[in-house]
Amino acid sequence: MKIAMVGSGYVGLVSGACFADFGHDVVCIDKDPAKIDSLKAGIMPIFEPGLAELVTSNAKSGRLSFTTDLTEGIAGAAAIFIAVGTPSRRGDGHADLSYVYAVAEEVGQALNNDAVVVTKSTVPVGTGDEVERILTEAAPGVKFAVASNPEFLREGAAIADFKHPDRIVIGTEDEWARGVMREVYRPLFLNKSPILFTSRRTSELIKYAANAFLAVKITFINEMADLCEKVGADVQDVSRGIGMDGRIGSKFLHAGPGYGGSCFPKDTLALLKTAEDYEAPTRIVEAVVAVNDSRKRAMGRKVIEALGGTDAARGKKVAMLGLTFKPNTDDMRDSPSIAIALALADAGISVSAYDPEGMELAAPLMPEVKMAANTYAAIDGADAVVIVTEWDAFRALDFDRIKRIAKAPVLVDLRNVYDPAEVRAKGFAYSSVGRV
Ligand code: UDX
Repeated sequence: MKIAMVGSGYVGLVSGACFADFGHDVVCIDKDPAKIDSLKAGIMPIFEPGLAELVTSNAKSGRLSFTTDLTEGIAGAAAIFIAVGTPSRRGDGHADLSYVYAVAEEVGQALNNDAVVVTKSTVPVGTGDEVERILTEAAPGVKFAVASNPEFLREGAAIADFKHPDRIVIGTEDEWARGVMREVYRPLFLNKSPILFTSRRTSELIKYAANAFLAVKITFINEMADLCEKVGADVQDVSRGIGMDGRIGSKFLHAGPGYGGSCFPKDTLALLKTAEDYEAPTRIVEAVVAVNDSRKRAMGRKVIEALGGTDAARGKKVAMLGLTFKPNTDDMRDSPSIAIALALADAGISVSAYDPEGMELAAPLMPEVKMAANTYAAIDGADAVVIVTEWDAFRALDFDRIKRIAKAPVLVDLRNVYDPAEVRAKGFAYSSVGRV
């Protein structure tokens, strides 16, 4: 089956490469000629483990190709995926749908064979209706259907998530379109991955509801962590203790500096806007957004406390280990590190940082931070070391070396990577999240 993927960003590229790997004939389309040229040369625009190999091998076998020409790219495709960005609109937090609608318009102009047009971008409820309206106007007489097929990929584990999904959600009531989508996902279907068919609007909402619920879980455990610190309890044991209850589940109960990334912050805000527009406010999600926002800066205060409070901290130096919003990505979007670095700079603290993949994107977002060549160069002369992102590289730090090169043995572990007793036994003043 021929599949066209319009938009070769994170979602489009991973999905396109995986569909090609399933044996489909996939064309990835993007307006950006520089991106298409690099992809043709095997250079990935993003850092995602395994992606370069997958793209290269499928391109070599002729199942995956790249073009800037949408008309050529969609010709003969039975499924045309729209996988362009839906960033938060500046000013009001609504999802900006201009790219999605522009693609729908272009597809409509170029379409001359039967096709299912599928929104893979995260789009608010009702977007599929508008895409359908645009296509009906632009492509009269052509048989098409519009389906919703949200992605649930985690950065850093996107390929595994795509190939072994917990579920595939397909939103369309059109039987022919359901058949085409079944064919698209045939290898997963045969593998017994659950496929849930719903109405288009339901499918659009499932994506937001899933991300909002995960954001609720994280924020809930983060608040429990704060309470643990006050009452002398251990949040990791609380997570285990509640997570063993099958109704709650153990995942996404890891306390930390607050969620960031390309999805949770943007999608929770967009859900609030939809809820507001339909006069069905979601108070829980409102609280989650507010609590998570204030948490990031509060982590800066935690570091200042570890340095002995505001007065003592002024003029000191902190080493931040990890800048990306999570490990195995170079993504800096809404990373807690940005607010933490700013809070430290505001308190007159100088900051050096090291991140295995994120420094290039981080540098312009935190001009006050000095980027170091490696972990120990960042730590050299520091009054405190802060683990912000739990990269594997920071899971086995050389504590003796840190004691030699740092000004003081102070470790603030915002990801609970270490065992407090072990680190303290090595002579460190150690603080973490939700553990005393
Ligand atoms: C998320 C969803 O998981 C995915 O299904 C959706 O398609 C896109 O958004 P992603 O943003 O890549 O994926 O990262 P994820 O692993 O979900 O982590 C998001 C944020 O939550 C990170 O900042 C992470 O550090 C934080 N987090 C996650 C926690 O603080 N605690 C947890 O227990 C889990």
